[in-house]
Amino acid sequence: MFVVGRDRGTADARRLNGPDKKNGRLVIFGLCYVIMTSDMESARRRANPSKQENRKDDPMRKLLLATLAAAVPATMALAQSAEDTVKARQGFFQLVGFETGGLAAMAKGDVDYDAEAASAHAADLSALISLHVADYFAPGTSNADLPGKTRALPVIWEDTDGFMERVQALNAAVDTMAGAAGGGLDALRPAMGQLGGACKACHDDYRAKSF
Ligand code: HEC
Repeated sequence: MFVVGRDRGTADARRLNGPDKKNGRLVIFGLCYVIMTSDMESARRRANPSKQENRKDDPMRKLLLATLAAAVPATMALAQSAEDTVKARQGFFQLVGFETGGLAAMAKGDVDYDAEAASAHAADLSALISLHVADYFAPGTSNADLPGKTRALPVIWEDTDGFMERVQALNAAVDTMAGAAGGGLDALRPAMGQLGGACKACHDDYRAKSF
């Protein structure tokens, strides 16, 4: 998931560990500082109205505006709340579940095997795991942070290596499925076994049984 390329796991693990968050804190801190200083400036100006005329040329004001302009885009990137992140994550897994369900139904014989439909499900799974899903696992979005909203266990962020191994196992299973889905029911069934096993291995250790 997260990325198909094997060498990108480290970058994803780094994102799970959340260097961005530290950055974000800095930006927010900076912004508070800017707003505070700006308030102090206007208070000073109110106390000494003669200064008002020079407002536009005030170098302090220019500096504040420049800092603010630089800070805003970075802050906007953080504007995704923890709740929104969880929704995106669950939406992602809903899609993964939907595509996998289509393949599982054929493997089980609930619906007739259809090479074209199976290939489409497998291709969609490949597309899904190429997303940068680590973004949906931002720190601060476990079920300890948001009880009742998510089943993501805190151990995801404590045992990043173990979690990334499950991710890589899913990547491998989806690759296998991509090669097998269109090749008949006898090819689909073992690939489905591998895929289902990859889902279960992660859910067993990293997903709570209930909300
Ligand atoms: C690397 C770990 C991992 C793998 C692999 C994985 N999942 Fe999940 N899955 C999770 C976690 C964690 C959640 C809980 C998300 C939440 O509640 O925020 C989840 C939730 C789900 C959900 C529920 C989404 C919701 O709306 O609450 C479905 C459906 C799902 N996974 C299907 C699958 C299927 C199908 C596979 C295999 C093709 C799979 N998952 C593989 C970790 C994983």
